[in-house]
Amino acid sequence: MRKPLLAGNWKMNKTPSEARRWFAEFLEANPVYAAGGEPAVEAAILPSFPLIPVAAEQLAGSAVRFGGQDVSAHEWGAFTGEVAAAQLADLGASYVIVGHSERRAYWNESDELVAAKAARAIEHGLTPILCVGEKLEVREAGRAVSFTLAQLEGSLSGLEIASGEELVIAYEPVWAIGTGKTASAADAEEMAAAIRNFIRERYGERAAANIRILYGGSMKPANTADIMAGPNVDGGLVGGASLEVESFSQMIAAV
Ligand code: PGA
Repeated sequence: MRKPLLAGNWKMNKTPSEARRWFAEFLEANPVYAAGGEPAVEAAILPSFPLIPVAAEQLAGSAVRFGGQDVSAHEWGAFTGEVAAAQLADLGASYVIVGHSERRAYWNESDELVAAKAARAIEHGLTPILCVGEKLEVREAGRAVSFTLAQLEGSLSGLEIASGEELVIAYEPVWAIGTGKTASAADAEEMAAAIRNFIRERYGERAAANIRILYGGSMKPANTADIMAGPNVDGGLVGGASLEVESFSQMIAAV
C-alpha cells in the first residue's frame, strides 16, 4: 500500500527563528508526529537551505521528514551557490524537490538537468519529488496529458527506477500554482492515472504500484479530501497552505 504523503514546499519564506517556532507548534498540535513512529499520513517539510539544520534539530525523533527544494546535479566542486546531495543527506534529509516549475521558468532548467539532479539525489539516498505540469495554454489546447508525459519522459531520461519507492512524482499544473485556482479532482486523477500508466509501461508493474504521485497547485484544507479521493492521487505538494501550522494540520487530517 502506498502511504499518502503531504509535502510542504515553503519556497523562499521564513527565517530560522520562524521555522523553529513552526516546528515546535506543529509537533505540539500533532502529538502523533511528535512521538515518532509511522503515522498514517507521511508529512514532510521542504524549507529553504538555511532552515534545514533547524529542521534536522527540531524534527529529530519525530515522524516529520524534511528535505530541500533543489539540489545540484554535480557531486562536489567549484559550483558557487549550489548545494550538494551529500550535504542534504548528511543532515538527515529524506526528500528533495527537482524540476519545480518556478525553477524551470526562472532558471531555465531543462528536462535533462532535472533528470541529472534526480539521479544525483537517488545516488545519495534522497527521494526526489519530481515536478511536471502544463501551462494554461497547453491545457486549453487539449494537450495537457501529452505535454506532461513528454516532460516526464525527458525528466526521467537515464534514470533507473526499480521498486518505484525511490521517486515521487508531483503533477503541478503551472496555472494552479499560487493562483488560488485548483485543477478539478477529475483532472488531477486523470493526469495521475496517465502518469502511473506511463511508469507501468516503462518500468513495470512493481514500480507503477509503488510510486507515489502527488498533486500540487493551490491545495488547501477545503479541497484536500476531494483531490485525494482519486485512487491514483497519493498526496499533495503544498505551497502557501503549508506556511501555517493550522492549515497544514487540517490538510493532514483531511487526507
Ligand atoms: P501553492 O504551491 O500550493 O502555493 O499553489 C504549490 C507548489 O508550487 O508546490
